Amino acid sequence: MSKPKVYVTRQLFDEALGILERHAEVEVFDGVDNPAPRDLILSKVREVDGLLCLLTDKIDSEVIEAGRNLKVISNYAVGFNNIDVEAATRHGIYVTNTPGILTETTADCAWALLLAIARRIAEADRSIRAGKWVHAWGPRMFLGSDVHGKTLGIVGLGRIGSAVAKRAKGFDMNVIYYDVRRREDLEEKLGITFKSLEEVLSEADFVTVHVPLTKGTYHMIGRRELSMMKKSAYLINTSRGPVIDEAELYSALKEGVIAGAALDVFEQEPLDPNSPLLELENVVLTPHIASASVETRTKMAVVAATNLVSVLRGEEPPNLVNPEVKKIRPLRSQ
Ligand code: GLV
Ligand code: GLV
Repeated sequence: MSKPKVYVTRQLFDEALGILERHAEVEVFDGVDNPAPRDLILSKVREVDGLLCLLTDKIDSEVIEAGRNLKVISNYAVGFNNIDVEAATRHGIYVTNTPGILTETTADCAWALLLAIARRIAEADRSIRAGKWVHAWGPRMFLGSDVHGKTLGIVGLGRIGSAVAKRAKGFDMNVIYYDVRRREDLEEKLGITFKSLEEVLSEADFVTVHVPLTKGTYHMIGRRELSMMKKSAYLINTSRGPVIDEAELYSALKEGVIAGAALDVFEQEPLDPNSPLLELENVVLTPHIASASVETRTKMAVVAATNLVSVLRGEEPPNLVNPEVKKIRPLRSQ
């Protein structure tokens, strides 16, 4: 029997390629930093059984319908808002993601951003490099905000939100959270308190967002929500850009409605080089790197490859996003 065919939309890590190549004929787009053009994905998907894609690839119904032999779409990410999962399910295509492994790494990064904005780290670094440190030490230089002892508000208590909460213990913080689903099981373990979204926004000194992007979470933080926050509060986003209304956030930062923000994700990525956010000092910006540690990005590739190969072998993949698909196209070992 000829081997199944797989297309990978970016250069990943050798560990993952090895797993794929044992089971399939693999073609990899030669880009490292640049996404595969949509037309190329549309033409490649016609020929393959499996697609390993990234969050930069829009896998909509057009791509899915072009994939006549497609059995599995393996996303190299935990978030899967780039994929039309309903369309995939209708066509009997398994969709997988990479949850779990990037949780702690992303939580580390959310904390790095929180500390950086509170203590003005990026701004101070820019100032030194610009030759502005001319007066030795000064009692009022770069005054920021304390982090320890403050109130941390977590919006979305999934795996990543919980990992962020766990770290707050070391800073003696009061941790409050909002989630569509109350997690009483975690409240005692993590020492955190459930509140409404409005209460989290109005009581927290730091609000950190950890919800997936869905129709329900699109612009869930807009003008009204920002105006509920304390003037001294900071907003941190490592989830998906469109969860926050970026134009409203810009106004809030500029007009002093809130003190600052630290953003790893944006409504449009890459961020427009003319984005007005770039003019503000009270915002820390990173280019969607929250899961970017050597260890985690390598593990994500191995998990994405393992998920994909499982489906091709007729086995249940470890991280199936759309279990309903099993009724439409049951797995059978090949
Ligand atoms: C990164 O943003 C991911 O969803 O894995
Ligand atoms: C994603 O991994 C989450 O559940 O927070």
